[in-house]
Amino acid sequence: MNAPVPPENVFDWLDAEAEKRASAGLVRQLRPRPPVAEELDLAGNDYLGLARDKRVAGAAAAAALRWGAGSTGSRLVTGTTELHTELEHELARFCGAQAALVFSSGFTANLGAVTALSGAESAIVTDKYIHASLIEGCRLSRADIAAVAHVDVKAFSHALSTRRKPRALVVTDSVFSVDGDIAPLGDLARVCRETNASLLIDDAHGFGVLGEGGRGAVHEAGLAGAPDVVATITLSKSLGAQGGAVLGPRRVIKHLVDTARSFIFDTGLAPSSAAAALAALNALKAEPELATKVRDASMNLAMQLKAAGFTLCVPEAAVISVHAPSPGEAVAWAGACAEQGIRVGCFRPPSVPDGISRLRLTARADLTESDVDRAVKVITATAPRGAFAS
Ligand SMILES: Cc1ncc(COP(=O)(O)O)c(C=O)c1O
Repeated sequence: MNAPVPPENVFDWLDAEAEKRASAGLVRQLRPRPPVAEELDLAGNDYLGLARDKRVAGAAAAAALRWGAGSTGSRLVTGTTELHTELEHELARFCGAQAALVFSSGFTANLGAVTALSGAESAIVTDKYIHASLIEGCRLSRADIAAVAHVDVKAFSHALSTRRKPRALVVTDSVFSVDGDIAPLGDLARVCRETNASLLIDDAHGFGVLGEGGRGAVHEAGLAGAPDVVATITLSKSLGAQGGAVLGPRRVIKHLVDTARSFIFDTGLAPSSAAAALAALNALKAEPELATKVRDASMNLAMQLKAAGFTLCVPEAAVISVHAPSPGEAVAWAGACAEQGIRVGCFRPPSVPDGISRLRLTARADLTESDVDRAVKVITATAPRGAFAS
């Protein structure tokens, strides 16, 4: 029998989908950047400016030469080095948690934590604006899911007290990644305690920026080390490295080692990334003022943009979102800023929970007053007319 001829048309539907995205202004493009930014970078997540710090990049290079370019296996086989265990110990100590577990990314840390701490016998109640990685965790969990109104403590309380499942997990970002506003962590912890639920907080944008010396939003809310609270962080933002971690009670961490599929079936974090994160953590311990500097820069930038007439939330951390009238105008605006030497992020559906397109700016500890002035001038001069608050 002749082998069947491979059909040419099985992926034709992708072209129709691409056309739909093009007419909605939702085409995305990869834009490789040079090693040293030519533009003023207000788009990345290197909040403390540590990604290129010689202590951090040097530690990564030395670790690659000593331990190899990759970790060579999953964490439970050959992918755990002394660097991984030291990093876990130091992260837990710094954040005030009993224990920590390092994952290959913040995304896999969130997938692992949500799925392993819930399941078919659980209800999960989430803020409806949580990060995509937490949403994917919820989808994989087989739990009953209720996504409630943004930062609405009463809605959390109602969903928890009317749940059908015996166990419950509340899932929220600390600092929301799109608008940069903050969850009412103390009130959520109280509601969880009243309804016998556990609390999982993604502190990706709080760690390194908020709390004493950058210990994060969970620490700032007085929840570090609590027996019912678990935090996740990424090593790729304030620490300028790569990877993620879960921080929490020792028995939670043990449970993740035994059951979290995104930990067990994933190659361990590269030793160079673990070494970079450790060096960055040491830099933050030595210079706790980095956290204050990034918060000050963020507030300065936001206040000047507000004074220029844009619609934005007052930032709690380093993320600032400026509303744009439409996806197409957001892309054109970000492009015009780049042409004038200011790189800003552009968030459009489906990356925005409320359908509003935005320029997304991030502050860094090393931004100067004149950087901020220049950025505000360019963003204002290139803005579409509908971007100004009426
Ligand atoms: C809130 C939040 N959680 C998790 C992640 C995922 O972290 P990572 O990039 O390390 O996978 C991100 C980042 O992109 C994020 O913004």
